[in-house]
Amino acid sequence: MEGFCRFFIRVGGVRGYSTIKKDLHIEGIKHAIAVASGKGGVGKSTTAVNLAVALANKFRLKVGLLDADVYGPNVPIMMKINSKPEVTKDKKMVPVENYGIKCMSMGLLVQTDDAFVWRGPMVGSALGKMVRDVTWGNLDILVVDMPPGTGDAQIAISQLLHLSGALIVSTPQDVALMDARRGVKMFSKVQVPILGFVENMSHFNCPHCGEASFIFGKEGTHKAATEMGLEFVGQIPLEIEIRKGCDEGVPIVISSPDSVVSKAYGGLAQNVINRLEVLSKEQPPPEIFL
Ligand SMILES: Nc1ncnc2c1ncn2[C@@H]1O[C@H](COP(=O)(O)OP(=O)(O)O)[C@@H](O)[C@H]1O
Ligand SMILES: [Mg+2]
Repeated sequence: MEGFCRFFIRVGGVRGYSTIKKDLHIEGIKHAIAVASGKGGVGKSTTAVNLAVALANKFRLKVGLLDADVYGPNVPIMMKINSKPEVTKDKKMVPVENYGIKCMSMGLLVQTDDAFVWRGPMVGSALGKMVRDVTWGNLDILVVDMPPGTGDAQIAISQLLHLSGALIVSTPQDVALMDARRGVKMFSKVQVPILGFVENMSHFNCPHCGEASFIFGKEGTHKAATEMGLEFVGQIPLEIEIRKGCDEGVPIVISSPDSVVSKAYGGLAQNVINRLEVLSKEQPPPEIFL
Protein backbone atom coordinates (compact mmCIF):
# COMPACT_ATOMS: atom_id res chain seq x y z
CA MET A 1 0.00 0.00 0.00
CA GLU A 2 2.75 2.38 0.99
CA GLY A 3 4.54 1.63 -2.25
CA PHE A 4 1.39 2.40 -4.12
CA CYS A 5 1.06 5.85 -2.51
CA ARG A 6 4.71 6.59 -3.25
CA PHE A 7 4.11 5.51 -6.82
CA PHE A 8 1.20 7.93 -7.19
CA ILE A 9 3.18 10.79 -5.71
CA ARG A 10 6.16 10.02 -7.93
CA VAL A 11 4.18 9.73 -11.12
CA GLY A 12 1.88 12.59 -10.16
CA GLY A 13 -0.92 11.56 -12.51
CA VAL A 14 -1.52 9.69 -15.68
CA ARG A 15 0.71 10.40 -18.64
CA GLY A 16 -0.08 8.98 -22.03
CA TYR A 17 2.04 7.34 -24.64
CA SER A 18 1.51 10.22 -27.01
CA THR A 19 0.66 13.91 -26.96
CA ILE A 20 -2.90 13.16 -28.02
CA LYS A 21 -3.33 10.79 -25.11
CA LYS A 22 -1.87 13.37 -22.72
CA ASP A 23 -4.61 15.79 -23.79
CA LEU A 24 -7.20 13.28 -22.69
CA HIS A 25 -5.96 13.30 -19.13
CA ILE A 26 -8.60 14.69 -16.77
CA GLU A 27 -7.25 16.96 -14.06
CA GLY A 28 -7.39 15.20 -10.71
CA ILE A 29 -7.93 11.67 -12.04
CA LYS A 30 -4.77 9.61 -11.66
CA HIS A 31 -5.98 6.47 -13.38
CA ALA A 32 -9.04 5.55 -15.41
CA ILE A 33 -9.56 1.86 -16.08
CA ALA A 34 -12.16 0.19 -18.28
CA VAL A 35 -13.97 -2.96 -17.19
CA ALA A 36 -14.89 -4.54 -20.49
CA SER A 37 -15.61 -7.63 -22.57
CA GLY A 38 -17.02 -8.20 -26.01
CA LYS A 39 -20.10 -9.86 -24.57
CA GLY A 40 -23.06 -8.81 -22.44
CA GLY A 41 -24.12 -10.59 -19.29
CA VAL A 42 -20.68 -11.91 -18.33
CA GLY A 43 -20.47 -9.74 -15.22
CA LYS A 44 -18.76 -6.48 -16.24
CA SER A 45 -21.00 -4.29 -14.08
CA THR A 46 -20.87 -6.71 -11.16
CA THR A 47 -17.07 -6.77 -11.37
CA ALA A 48 -16.79 -3.00 -11.84
CA VAL A 49 -18.98 -2.28 -8.79
CA ASN A 50 -17.30 -4.77 -6.44
CA LEU A 51 -13.84 -3.81 -7.65
CA ALA A 52 -14.57 -0.11 -7.10
CA VAL A 53 -15.81 -0.79 -3.57
CA ALA A 54 -12.85 -3.07 -2.79
CA LEU A 55 -10.38 -0.43 -4.01
CA ALA A 56 -12.03 2.17 -1.79
CA ASN A 57 -12.68 0.06 1.33
CA LYS A 58 -9.70 -2.24 1.44
CA PHE A 59 -7.05 0.04 -0.04
CA ARG A 60 -8.48 3.39 1.08
CA LEU A 61 -8.24 4.85 -2.40
CA LYS A 62 -10.41 7.65 -3.77
CA VAL A 63 -12.57 5.92 -6.34
CA GLY A 64 -15.11 6.99 -8.96
CA LEU A 65 -17.42 4.78 -10.98
CA LEU A 66 -18.54 5.81 -14.44
CA ASP A 67 -21.33 3.77 -15.96
CA ALA A 68 -20.56 3.99 -19.67
CA ASP A 69 -23.39 1.64 -20.60
CA VAL A 70 -25.84 4.20 -21.93
CA TYR A 71 -28.03 1.49 -23.43
CA GLY A 72 -28.53 -0.43 -20.23
CA PRO A 73 -27.13 1.43 -17.21
CA ASN A 74 -27.00 -0.88 -14.18
CA VAL A 75 -24.83 1.08 -11.75
CA PRO A 76 -27.73 2.99 -10.11
CA ILE A 77 -29.40 -0.27 -9.00
CA MET A 78 -26.18 -2.05 -8.09
CA MET A 79 -24.94 0.96 -6.05
CA LYS A 80 -28.38 1.87 -4.68
CA ILE A 81 -28.36 5.43 -5.97
CA ASN A 82 -31.28 7.22 -7.57
CA SER A 83 -31.00 10.95 -6.98
CA LYS A 84 -30.39 13.24 -9.93
CA PRO A 85 -26.91 14.75 -9.90
CA GLU A 86 -26.84 18.36 -8.70
CA VAL A 87 -25.57 20.91 -11.20
CA THR A 88 -23.01 23.55 -10.19
CA LYS A 89 -23.04 27.23 -11.27
CA ASP A 90 -20.61 26.43 -14.07
CA LYS A 91 -22.95 23.69 -15.29
CA LYS A 92 -20.98 20.70 -14.07
CA MET A 93 -22.72 17.67 -12.65
CA VAL A 94 -21.88 16.53 -9.15
CA PRO A 95 -21.45 12.73 -9.01
CA VAL A 96 -23.84 10.86 -6.74
CA GLU A 97 -22.01 9.13 -3.90
CA ASN A 98 -22.64 5.88 -2.07
CA TYR A 99 -20.33 3.48 -0.22
CA GLY A 100 -17.66 6.18 -0.62
CA ILE A 101 -17.72 5.91 -4.42
CA LYS A 102 -18.51 8.87 -6.68
CA CYS A 103 -20.86 7.58 -9.37
CA MET A 104 -22.16 8.88 -12.67
CA SER A 105 -24.61 7.04 -14.88
CA MET A 106 -27.04 7.77 -17.67
CA GLY A 107 -29.56 6.00 -15.46
CA LEU A 108 -29.39 9.01 -13.12
CA LEU A 109 -29.99 11.51 -15.92
CA VAL A 110 -32.77 10.07 -18.04
CA GLN A 111 -35.53 7.52 -17.70
CA THR A 112 -33.82 4.16 -18.23
CA ASP A 113 -36.25 3.24 -21.02
CA ASP A 114 -35.20 6.33 -23.00
CA ALA A 115 -31.56 5.31 -22.87
CA PHE A 116 -32.23 2.19 -24.89
CA VAL A 117 -33.25 4.09 -28.04
CA TRP A 118 -30.11 6.26 -28.28
CA ARG A 119 -28.27 6.26 -31.58
CA GLY A 120 -24.54 6.26 -32.42
CA PRO A 121 -23.54 9.96 -32.48
CA MET A 122 -25.69 10.73 -29.43
CA VAL A 123 -23.83 8.07 -27.48
CA GLY A 124 -20.51 9.86 -27.98
CA SER A 125 -21.84 13.23 -26.85
CA ALA A 126 -23.65 11.72 -23.86
CA LEU A 127 -20.48 9.93 -22.79
CA GLY A 128 -18.51 13.15 -23.30
CA LYS A 129 -20.76 14.94 -20.81
CA MET A 130 -20.52 12.14 -18.29
CA VAL A 131 -16.74 12.10 -18.52
CA ARG A 132 -15.86 15.78 -18.74
CA ASP A 133 -18.77 17.78 -17.32
CA VAL A 134 -18.58 16.13 -13.92
CA THR A 135 -16.92 17.37 -10.74
CA TRP A 136 -14.94 14.18 -10.16
CA GLY A 137 -12.44 15.98 -7.93
CA ASN A 138 -9.30 14.06 -6.99
CA LEU A 139 -9.55 10.36 -7.74
CA ASP A 140 -6.93 7.66 -7.50
CA ILE A 141 -8.93 5.45 -9.84
CA LEU A 142 -11.97 6.01 -12.02
CA VAL A 143 -13.51 2.62 -12.83
CA VAL A 144 -15.41 2.68 -16.13
CA ASP A 145 -18.13 0.07 -16.51
CA MET A 146 -18.22 -0.47 -20.27
CA PRO A 147 -21.17 -1.52 -22.41
CA PRO A 148 -20.94 -4.86 -24.23
CA GLY A 149 -19.44 -5.00 -27.72
CA THR A 150 -16.60 -3.35 -29.54
CA GLY A 151 -18.47 -0.49 -31.17
CA ASP A 152 -19.17 3.25 -30.91
CA ALA A 153 -19.24 3.51 -27.14
CA GLN A 154 -15.94 1.67 -26.63
CA ILE A 155 -14.14 3.79 -29.20
CA ALA A 156 -15.77 6.94 -27.83
CA ILE A 157 -14.57 6.23 -24.28
CA SER A 158 -11.01 5.59 -25.39
CA GLN A 159 -11.09 8.91 -27.27
CA LEU A 160 -12.63 10.81 -24.38
CA LEU A 161 -10.31 9.95 -21.55
CA HIS A 162 -6.90 8.48 -21.14
CA LEU A 163 -7.38 4.90 -20.03
CA SER A 164 -4.45 3.52 -18.05
CA GLY A 165 -5.66 0.05 -18.92
CA ALA A 166 -8.57 -2.29 -19.49
CA LEU A 167 -9.72 -5.30 -17.52
CA ILE A 168 -11.30 -7.98 -19.65
CA VAL A 169 -14.08 -9.90 -17.92
CA SER A 170 -15.12 -13.26 -19.28
CA THR A 171 -16.80 -16.45 -18.25
CA PRO A 172 -14.77 -19.57 -19.09
CA GLN A 173 -17.21 -20.34 -21.91
CA ASP A 174 -15.87 -20.52 -25.50
CA VAL A 175 -18.30 -17.98 -26.98
CA ALA A 176 -17.59 -15.49 -24.20
CA LEU A 177 -13.85 -15.95 -24.68
CA MET A 178 -14.19 -15.39 -28.43
CA ASP A 179 -15.86 -12.04 -27.74
CA ALA A 180 -13.29 -11.25 -25.05
CA ARG A 181 -10.54 -11.74 -27.63
CA ARG A 182 -12.30 -9.20 -29.87
CA GLY A 183 -12.34 -6.82 -26.93
CA VAL A 184 -8.59 -7.26 -26.45
CA LYS A 185 -7.99 -6.49 -30.15
CA MET A 186 -10.15 -3.39 -30.01
CA PHE A 187 -8.19 -2.01 -27.05
CA SER A 188 -4.88 -2.77 -28.70
CA LYS A 189 -6.03 -0.80 -31.77
CA VAL A 190 -6.66 2.25 -29.60
CA GLN A 191 -3.40 1.66 -27.68
CA VAL A 192 -4.98 0.88 -24.34
CA PRO A 193 -2.93 -1.71 -22.43
CA ILE A 194 -4.70 -4.74 -21.00
CA LEU A 195 -4.49 -4.97 -17.20
CA GLY A 196 -5.54 -8.59 -17.35
CA PHE A 197 -8.28 -11.17 -17.63
CA VAL A 198 -10.89 -11.71 -14.91
CA GLU A 199 -12.69 -15.01 -14.95
CA ASN A 200 -16.22 -14.49 -13.68
CA MET A 201 -18.66 -17.29 -12.80
CA SER A 202 -15.66 -19.61 -12.76
CA HIS A 203 -17.44 -22.33 -10.79
CA PHE A 204 -20.38 -22.93 -8.51
CA ASN A 205 -19.91 -24.45 -5.07
CA CYS A 206 -22.96 -26.50 -4.14
CA PRO A 207 -24.29 -25.05 -0.86
CA HIS A 208 -25.38 -28.56 0.22
CA CYS A 209 -22.49 -30.88 -0.58
CA GLY A 210 -19.77 -28.30 -1.29
CA GLU A 211 -18.88 -29.87 -4.65
CA ALA A 212 -17.62 -27.43 -7.30
CA SER A 213 -19.43 -27.45 -10.66
CA PHE A 214 -17.75 -25.83 -13.62
CA ILE A 215 -20.93 -24.63 -15.30
CA PHE A 216 -19.27 -22.57 -18.05
CA GLY A 217 -16.26 -24.85 -18.49
CA LYS A 218 -12.96 -25.10 -16.71
CA GLU A 219 -9.82 -23.01 -17.05
CA GLY A 220 -10.81 -21.58 -20.45
CA THR A 221 -10.04 -18.03 -19.36
CA HIS A 222 -6.66 -19.03 -17.96
CA LYS A 223 -5.77 -20.69 -21.25
CA ALA A 224 -6.99 -17.74 -23.34
CA ALA A 225 -5.00 -15.30 -21.19
CA THR A 226 -1.84 -17.41 -21.53
CA GLU A 227 -2.32 -17.75 -25.31
CA MET A 228 -2.58 -13.98 -25.67
CA GLY A 229 0.32 -13.34 -23.30
CA LEU A 230 -1.95 -11.53 -20.86
CA GLU A 231 -2.12 -11.59 -17.09
CA PHE A 232 -4.79 -13.53 -15.23
CA VAL A 233 -5.81 -11.15 -12.46
CA GLY A 234 -8.88 -12.63 -10.79
CA GLN A 235 -11.28 -15.50 -10.47
CA ILE A 236 -14.78 -14.94 -9.11
CA PRO A 237 -17.18 -17.84 -8.51
CA LEU A 238 -20.84 -17.95 -9.51
CA GLU A 239 -22.57 -17.25 -6.24
CA ILE A 240 -26.11 -16.42 -5.22
CA GLU A 241 -24.95 -13.74 -2.76
CA ILE A 242 -23.19 -11.85 -5.56
CA ARG A 243 -26.37 -11.75 -7.63
CA LYS A 244 -28.47 -10.77 -4.60
CA GLY A 245 -26.04 -7.99 -3.73
CA CYS A 246 -26.38 -6.59 -7.26
CA ASP A 247 -30.17 -6.70 -7.21
CA GLU A 248 -30.45 -5.20 -3.74
CA GLY A 249 -27.85 -2.51 -4.33
CA VAL A 250 -25.53 -3.71 -1.58
CA PRO A 251 -22.36 -5.13 -3.18
CA ILE A 252 -21.16 -8.32 -1.49
CA VAL A 253 -17.89 -6.57 -0.65
CA ILE A 254 -19.99 -4.31 1.62
CA SER A 255 -22.46 -6.87 3.00
CA SER A 256 -19.96 -9.71 3.65
CA PRO A 257 -16.48 -8.17 3.61
CA ASP A 258 -14.88 -11.30 5.10
CA SER A 259 -16.47 -13.81 2.71
CA VAL A 260 -14.37 -15.86 0.32
CA VAL A 261 -15.89 -13.94 -2.58
CA SER A 262 -15.07 -10.54 -1.08
CA LYS A 263 -11.52 -11.75 -0.57
CA ALA A 264 -11.43 -12.69 -4.26
CA TYR A 265 -12.52 -9.14 -5.15
CA GLY A 266 -9.86 -7.82 -2.76
CA GLY A 267 -7.25 -9.94 -4.56
CA LEU A 268 -8.44 -8.58 -7.89
CA ALA A 269 -8.16 -5.02 -6.56
CA GLN A 270 -4.60 -5.73 -5.37
CA ASN A 271 -3.67 -7.15 -8.77
CA VAL A 272 -5.13 -4.12 -10.53
CA ILE A 273 -3.04 -1.82 -8.33
CA ASN A 274 0.06 -3.91 -9.04
CA ARG A 275 -0.58 -3.93 -12.79
CA LEU A 276 -1.10 -0.15 -12.86
CA GLU A 277 2.21 0.27 -11.13
CA VAL A 278 3.97 -2.03 -13.61
CA LEU A 279 2.33 -0.38 -16.63
CA SER A 280 3.24 3.09 -15.41
CA LYS A 281 6.87 2.05 -15.23
CA GLU A 282 6.67 0.84 -18.82
CA GLN A 283 5.49 4.24 -19.99
CA PRO A 284 7.84 7.13 -20.65
CA PRO A 285 8.58 9.15 -17.50
CA PRO A 286 6.28 12.08 -16.81
CA GLU A 287 7.15 15.46 -18.26
CA ILE A 288 8.10 16.93 -14.91
CA PHE A 289 11.19 14.73 -14.80
CA LEU A 290 12.31 15.31 -18.39
N1 LIG B 1 -20.13 -14.07 -10.09
C1 LIG B 1 -21.46 -13.95 -10.16
N2 LIG B 1 -22.27 -14.76 -9.40
C2 LIG B 1 -23.62 -14.64 -9.48
N3 LIG B 1 -24.25 -13.79 -10.29
C3 LIG B 1 -23.50 -12.97 -11.07
C4 LIG B 1 -22.08 -13.00 -11.03
N4 LIG B 1 -21.62 -12.06 -11.90
C5 LIG B 1 -22.69 -11.49 -12.44
N5 LIG B 1 -23.83 -12.03 -11.95
C6 LIG B 1 -25.21 -11.71 -12.33
O1 LIG B 1 -25.30 -11.91 -13.75
C7 LIG B 1 -26.08 -10.89 -14.34
C8 LIG B 1 -25.26 -10.16 -15.40
O2 LIG B 1 -24.19 -9.49 -14.76
P1 LIG B 1 -23.75 -8.02 -15.21
O3 LIG B 1 -22.68 -7.62 -14.25
O4 LIG B 1 -24.93 -7.13 -15.33
O5 LIG B 1 -23.13 -8.33 -16.63
P2 LIG B 1 -22.67 -7.33 -17.79
O6 LIG B 1 -22.41 -6.00 -17.17
O7 LIG B 1 -21.45 -7.97 -18.39
O8 LIG B 1 -23.79 -7.28 -18.79
C9 LIG B 1 -26.55 -9.98 -13.21
O9 LIG B 1 -27.83 -10.35 -12.86
C10 LIG B 1 -25.58 -10.27 -12.07
O10 LIG B 1 -26.20 -10.13 -10.81
MG1 LIG C 1 -23.23 -4.12 -17.57
